[in-house]
Amino acid sequence: MKNPSLKNKRVLLGVSGGIAAYKSVELVRRLKDSGASVSVVMTEAARRFVTPLTFEAVSRSKVHSSLFDEPLVHIALPSEADLLIVAPATANTIGKFSNGIADDLLSACFLSCAGKTLIAPAMNWRMYENPAVRENLARLASRGVLQVGPEPGSLACGEEGPGRMAEVQEIIEAARAALADKDLRGERVVVTAGPTREYLDPVRFLSNRSSGKMGYALARAARDRGAGVTLISGPTALPRPSGMDFVAVEDSAGMLEAVQREVSQGATVLIMAAAVADYAPAERSAGKREKSRDLSLELKAAPDIISTVAKASRRPFIIGFAAETGGNTGRAAEKMKKKGMDMIVFNDVTEPGAGFDTDTNKVVILDGNRETHVGLMPKYDTAHAILDRLFEMKT
Ligand SMILES: Cc1cc2nc3c(=O)[nH]c(=O)nc-3n(C[C@H](O)[C@H](O)[C@H](O)COP(=O)(O)O)c2cc1C
Repeated sequence: MKNPSLKNKRVLLGVSGGIAAYKSVELVRRLKDSGASVSVVMTEAARRFVTPLTFEAVSRSKVHSSLFDEPLVHIALPSEADLLIVAPATANTIGKFSNGIADDLLSACFLSCAGKTLIAPAMNWRMYENPAVRENLARLASRGVLQVGPEPGSLACGEEGPGRMAEVQEIIEAARAALADKDLRGERVVVTAGPTREYLDPVRFLSNRSSGKMGYALARAARDRGAGVTLISGPTALPRPSGMDFVAVEDSAGMLEAVQREVSQGATVLIMAAAVADYAPAERSAGKREKSRDLSLELKAAPDIISTVAKASRRPFIIGFAAETGGNTGRAAEKMKKKGMDMIVFNDVTEPGAGFDTDTNKVVILDGNRETHVGLMPKYDTAHAILDRLFEMKT
């Protein structure tokens, strides 16, 4: 499986002096759990927030801070690393990186690092919005330094705004993405996700239990493998992923329109992970319907997006989903043929850990030739297994 993994990777983690330094202790644990080896470099300021002892205990190796106590460690550490992560990256450290200043161990390691660097800025929103910081970040990005976060939210100072360090899970995913094969570069992948809402009147709608998690995971995984991604999403509670185009829609008609627009603009792959309604109310009343004792609703079939796109003259590779209650893949195989899909992902939503609103999934990937059974795993990993099969079929 091409799923980018941190197994046996050597990570050099730089910790600079912000409140979020305590979160990097958890980051070390998660990196180690993923199979990476981790060496930690702390700035003098970082040591005032968290003790080196804590990082030594979780990384099970010596923490480095001084340029002068261990000569040439600023060359040795980066040259042995597959990836340098700096989390949190303070405004001060970002400024040094951007200006080529090397007056402590971390900034010297950054300058001598020939491999990939990922920074996770964290600071008060006023600092983050300062043009000096913005310019420094833009300059680093233009030189190929990768960035994850910061995110909006409540800050340690008690204020709200952009500046919160990315969550540990986000940093781990960004690290995996940094080391991933860019095997989908050149592809234009459109992913639909989440439920649709089919309105009866301005306040009531028919919908379903889809959380959007599988579709969002697919969009992130395709982005991480170098594809250009458009995520077309029904209403969900999920944060909007970075590094892709995002189109918010509500009903099946809106979703069809958005998909058709993307297909006409050259999408090469369409992944229909959204739970698009099968039926919509035959009539949508302009005002709120009166409450009555009983109500019979007339429903009409909602647009069948996959069948519509499959008939287009320049059609993308189409991947559909079949959420079933029961382990028989026969109905999914029929659905794939009938609708003109190239691949269908079957999941039995009654299986523990699979289906609606879970963070894991267990699926069977069907295509014309093969059934690929993918065991229970996080949805981001399931997404990579689906993209692995896509890559095999497209090459
Ligand atoms: C309580 C406290 C919290 C701080 N939090 C941050 C922060 O989140 N981000 C930041 O850029 N600087 C923060 N600073 C300022 C940095 O610690 C300061 O700029 C320091 O020189 C950074 O050094 P370093 O980049 O070498 O680690 C904080 C300072 C204090 C006293």
